[in-house]
Amino acid sequence: MKHLLKMLDLSKEEITDILNLADQLKYEREHGIAHPILQGKSLGMIFQKASTRTRVSFETGMYQLGGNPLFLSSNDLQIGRGEPVQDTARVLSRYLDGIMIRTFAQQEVEDLAKYGSIPIINGLTDFCHPCQVLADLMTIREVKGSFEGLKMCYIGDGNNMANSLIVGGLKVGMEVSIACPSNYQPDSVVIDFAKQNGKFTMTESVLEAASGADVLFTDVWASMGQEDEANERKLVFAGYQINDDVMAAANSGAMVQHCLPAHRGEEITEKVFEAHADEIFREAENRLHAQKAVMVKVMGE
Ligand code: CP
Ligand code: NVA
Repeated sequence: MKHLLKMLDLSKEEITDILNLADQLKYEREHGIAHPILQGKSLGMIFQKASTRTRVSFETGMYQLGGNPLFLSSNDLQIGRGEPVQDTARVLSRYLDGIMIRTFAQQEVEDLAKYGSIPIINGLTDFCHPCQVLADLMTIREVKGSFEGLKMCYIGDGNNMANSLIVGGLKVGMEVSIACPSNYQPDSVVIDFAKQNGKFTMTESVLEAASGADVLFTDVWASMGQEDEANERKLVFAGYQINDDVMAAANSGAMVQHCLPAHRGEEITEKVFEAHADEIFREAENRLHAQKAVMVKVMGE
């Protein structure tokens, strides 16, 4: 695997390989077994948006793998003053062994991969969040044992999380349903993929989508970069919430997942969030193990 740019690029086998390695790295960490697989290597981490989980999981993960993580805020890089990504890619390729980037446009990530000569990892764009979804799939498999016969449901904005969950869920063989307002649907490329790859339904009805679900996902109503739409979105998304009614429509024992940060009282109630906190924070922990597996796959082999 050369890069991790989006879930659409990964085969089912590549996803399974990453999840298996993530499980192994988690086991080793829990048993005090060191794994300095990336000793002597450096990862640049470019952030054009805020982050808690992605920054800390990559930074500490790289350290645990024996490598050197460099936090590169776009405020301090020349890229933030307009230096073209094509030039940044060619310069950083001469210093580093890999780049993780969190930014707005997916094209910027694709261009880094095109013009650079080192592995590029997408740490979230407006289009997708593959690192998060690999941790989500790891968590589902860990809790449920396998993906066999499971239905995943996503409620809310057809955003970066929706785009990646739909593709990831279908690729590992889950049924996927999504409930979103008609003007806030996932990317058309993702919908086209979904229509041709497995069992996929999209509706405006939250309860219809949640019916018979084994894993329920949601995400914030306004993503990073959409702050000025937040008030309008509160009106549009009212009702697109994981609450007791949604849990009653889902299968008994259904998991709840949230990439975090969560807005209690908006996309999820406090009660449901706290009832499923163990699963949600297990998901957050698995960012560390899944991100380490991704780094080993692209930089260590
Ligand atoms: N879920 C996630 O990516 O969190 P951060 O924005 O804190 O990195
Ligand atoms: N959809 C959210 C995810 C944050 C991890 C955002 O892009 O802000």
